[in-house]
Amino acid sequence: MPESSLSTKHLLGIKYITKEDIDLIFDTADSFIDVINRPIKKVPSLRDVTIANLFFENSTRTKMSFELAEKRLSADVVNFSASSSSVKKGETLLDTVNNILAMKVDMVVMRHPVPGAPMFLSKKINANVINAGDGTHEHPTQGLLDSYSIRRKLGEVAGKKVVIIGDVKHSRVALSNIFCLQKLGAEVKVCGPATLIPKHIESLGVGVEYDIDKALRWCDVANVLRIQLERQDIKYIPSLREYNLYYGIDKKRLDRLDREITIMHPGPINRGVELNSDVADSEHSIILQQVENGVAVRMAVLYLLAGRKN
Ligand code: CP
Repeated sequence: MPESSLSTKHLLGIKYITKEDIDLIFDTADSFIDVINRPIKKVPSLRDVTIANLFFENSTRTKMSFELAEKRLSADVVNFSASSSSVKKGETLLDTVNNILAMKVDMVVMRHPVPGAPMFLSKKINANVINAGDGTHEHPTQGLLDSYSIRRKLGEVAGKKVVIIGDVKHSRVALSNIFCLQKLGAEVKVCGPATLIPKHIESLGVGVEYDIDKALRWCDVANVLRIQLERQDIKYIPSLREYNLYYGIDKKRLDRLDREITIMHPGPINRGVELNSDVADSEHSIILQQVENGVAVRMAVLYLLAGRKN
């Protein structure tokens, strides 16, 4: 395991960490990939550490992935889900967290619908805070595992052309991907209907392409986002059927390209909307490798942050 440590006590967003931090997380994740592929998938690294997973919003992948990563590192784990907690009786976020910390918790993994909630918490408590997705802001471990998956598939991230397709406007995954890919030297474009591309996104140094076939011809990797109907207060697209017609990726669309590209998706997939099954389940797709790599990346983040108390 590396001797170095991260430049930060918390992981609140990719915006707030350095390229050196990302390289260190990836090199550490390489060691944990070996661990999770062994018959005995556990190491004692976090034996004295207690971690609370606080999920104020639904999750399948991130919640299970963090819990598995924590257990593989031998941490003690407590899980909190807002829907079955005293939040339903009106308890505030800070009161909830302070009560949990009174039970001597060292690290907090938090998903919350409000952008900035993990940042707020990190200023109030002593425990390390890891953002597991805050509203439409950032989802740093998803950004890390996506770039890490590109590194494992294509050898390196630097110099690669990555297009992020779809509902960029409502996506925390998009922002964390943009920051992570750029720090690692990739070229990034976004593609989607104009209503789902944030105004002024070019100011982040990304290109914008509205024609999906041009975007696919340009890229090495297409990271396809979910249409987030639950965050859309008004109609941004006429219908899901029309979205699929113009922006959905199916085998026919990929067959028109003159070379192979890699297809990624953070999940959950709306099959038949942004991605058709003949692509999602094809050899072009690394969607399940992303999930597998996510456990190793989260083990690396937890392991490295546990060494940072200040
Ligand atoms: N990719 C992702 O964040 O999925 P979940 O919402 O299932 O955690």
